[in-house]
Amino acid sequence: MNKTIVGLQWGDEAKAKVLDTLAFISPPKCVVRFNGGNNAGHTVVANGKKYIFHAVPAGVLNPNVECIIGSGTVVDIEELYKEILALTGQGLSLANLKISSHAHVILPEHKALDASTTKNTIGTTGRGIGPCYSAKIARKGLRVIDLFNQQLTPDLQEAINFIKPFITNTQQSLLKYYKEDRSIFFEGAQGMMLDIDNGTYPYVTSSNAHPGAAATTNGLPCSSIGEVIGISKAYTTRVGLGPFPTELNDSIGDYIRKIGHEYGSTTGRPRRCGWLDLVQLKYAVEMAGVDQIVLTKLDVLADVPEIQVCTAYQEHLDPISQDILWEKAKPCYKTLTGFPKKDWSKIFRWDDLPTKMQDYIRFIEDYLHQKINYISLGPERESLIEL
Ligand code: IMP
Repeated sequence: MNKTIVGLQWGDEAKAKVLDTLAFISPPKCVVRFNGGNNAGHTVVANGKKYIFHAVPAGVLNPNVECIIGSGTVVDIEELYKEILALTGQGLSLANLKISSHAHVILPEHKALDASTTKNTIGTTGRGIGPCYSAKIARKGLRVIDLFNQQLTPDLQEAINFIKPFITNTQQSLLKYYKEDRSIFFEGAQGMMLDIDNGTYPYVTSSNAHPGAAATTNGLPCSSIGEVIGISKAYTTRVGLGPFPTELNDSIGDYIRKIGHEYGSTTGRPRRCGWLDLVQLKYAVEMAGVDQIVLTKLDVLADVPEIQVCTAYQEHLDPISQDILWEKAKPCYKTLTGFPKKDWSKIFRWDDLPTKMQDYIRFIEDYLHQKINYISLGPERESLIEL
């Protein structure tokens, strides 16, 4: 069964950890990263080692799984070269990596433009993502395949020579796997609230993080995306500028940042932290058509005496369009009793969970009218518990 793994908030929901664990339990034929570029920072801890992926799909930890950097992504060739060297230096085999010939190339001028403009006004990662996608849409972009007809600097040439063997028409391979009914996992970057069309525009990224993009960008039938698995943290974080109704600018926000290690894995920026926002989460769950929900980092909230959850907004609809005005939304909270810290490595079943944690999960399920299928209580594979 194909699966598409997407973030339900503003990114950093631990998608890669979930993908790695699901791919470990039931290895797919291939994993495809379908949007964004090296603005993402996906962390996986396995066998006591920490791996950070920016452009390379998280599935590479299994050497039998083919990993595809899809046609809808944008690629910084020099950074990808460095990433591949770093991962092979950690002992991973990247023999099964493929790069779509149709992915667009992030050029030095894209990075310079991003750094001098949108990095300050939107809080982008400064990786040249927006200018590269702008060039693509303006039909002025350079695709990976076009690199071979260009005069380039010696540094870039070295990186291109290195990645050349990985370049291929990935649509052909994917269509073949789809027709043969072999399983494909699609890995989304960022999250629904950063989606260019449906997020908190203009404070968004430049691609569709929506699961539908997994099919359209790779040139596949819509039915290829299979089961949509939406990932949400048990609280909310955001990096960069833009609306965040439940943000906590106080000691609880600082506590969550510290315990949850909420610092960007791409830029190192401290993440803004806040309570779980069920209005936002329901919006994301409904638009993404989520089949299964994974609630991550629940352990981080342990020992917070009272947990607040946003269940409604005041004064938030535009009178003309009825759009949610995220920047004006004033959250209304329900207060739930917190739960104590435990040795999470010894917890494997619903019945082992602290009662107040069970209450928190049930409360979220009742609000969303949807089951939470998995929870995650730590960075290791073993800490993903099926409910
Ligand atoms: P860009 O994607 O670099 O253009 O940045 C646009 C917005 O998306 C900024 O607020 C970034 O912080 C945010 N963003 C981009 N990638 C990620 C990610 O992987 N996790 C979280 N936020 C991200």
